[in-house]
Amino acid sequence: MNEALKKWREDTPGCAARVHLNNAGAGLMPQAVLHAMTGHLEREALLGAYESADEAQPQVENAYEDLARLVGARRRNMAIVENATVAFFQALSAFDFNPGDVIVTTRNDYVSNQLAYLSLAKRRGVVVKRAADSPGGGADPQSVRELLRAPRVRLLAVTWVPTNSGLIQPVEALGAIADEAGVPYLVDACQAVGEIPVDVARLRCDFLSATARKFLRGPRGLGFLAVSDRALARGDFPLYIDMRGANWRTADTFEPKPDASRFENWEFAYSHVLGLGEAVRYALVVGVETGGGRARMLAARVREKLRELPGMRVLDRGKELAAIVTVQVAGREPEELVMLLRQRGINTSASLRAYAVIDMDEKKAAAALRISPHYYNTEEEIEQVVEALRPLGSASVA
Ligand SMILES: Cc1ncc(COP(=O)(O)O)c(C=O)c1O
Repeated sequence: MNEALKKWREDTPGCAARVHLNNAGAGLMPQAVLHAMTGHLEREALLGAYESADEAQPQVENAYEDLARLVGARRRNMAIVENATVAFFQALSAFDFNPGDVIVTTRNDYVSNQLAYLSLAKRRGVVVKRAADSPGGGADPQSVRELLRAPRVRLLAVTWVPTNSGLIQPVEALGAIADEAGVPYLVDACQAVGEIPVDVARLRCDFLSATARKFLRGPRGLGFLAVSDRALARGDFPLYIDMRGANWRTADTFEPKPDASRFENWEFAYSHVLGLGEAVRYALVVGVETGGGRARMLAARVREKLRELPGMRVLDRGKELAAIVTVQVAGREPEELVMLLRQRGINTSASLRAYAVIDMDEKKAAAALRISPHYYNTEEEIEQVVEALRPLGSASVA
């Protein structure tokens, strides 16, 4: 084992006990993240929650600064909220959709995002248009270009890496197309951040939402939104702005905060924010390119090995693939496989049809086992999951 890998594993208490291949669910937190969080919780208990938050203000500011650096933004552009879905919805709610307005999206956008578009269709008469896919998989930039030409397109919304497959959408090319068309661009980077380098300037996005807990290895229960200067200057603010996001000036007027905090909510998990700060610094030290490259290499190895096993169908499509492997095992329900692997100390997860109906129906898959390695996993652990699956697939074929 090389020195870097050894250190990453020593820094990660969970590596001792489990083979953790569920980073697309939640990555294992490094010790520094855990310490920052438990330390703050203790101070909350001893000093009081509001008092300890005041005391932690410099560290909270550092968390914002480092988070901004991670995505190529400035402190003023960063909003921290409860989770990635809230971040995405806060951004979506900044648009006043009228009946007949169009949202252009993809066939692989995240389930909750799709549900929100459908809710807007039902409640506000919004028209949802999904770009066609390229033959190799992923949204076809030409199709997006054509859809954006239609009148009344108010938004292009794209999930960078979907929850249920290794597909990587061409988010940079799509950003250039949106910019050219003058259409606001919202990117869901939940499965990308911490694995794929993010630079909001290159993406030319108005908003980018993500979570702390997946490939970034921060805590559960925290998400964030990068809000562009363009969106701030336009005066965008969330529909249900609260007392953190705005000042109530007179009985009938309010003023949104000048920076991205207008997208935040009053109640705040400071222990989580401090944990997020540590996770970001850890990712910057490892290097997102280095860590993500290794995670994708391990995922490619899983796919290669599973393809050789009887009864296995690897479902990931796309020119370039992220560190998410989805496989259908003949005659087995993925939930059953997750439990069998868990009994052997291996963490994976199940991707159900309802998480991505368009993609799963196209692949004729009712559900899939999802295996998502990260840079701290070893080649031996990849062997372990493959060997654990080998008899499960062949048993159903025999
Ligand atoms: C692509 C994608 N977007 C958004 C989310 C939602 O994140 P959260 O659970 O933090 O709201 C997920 C969660 O799995 C996801 O995979």
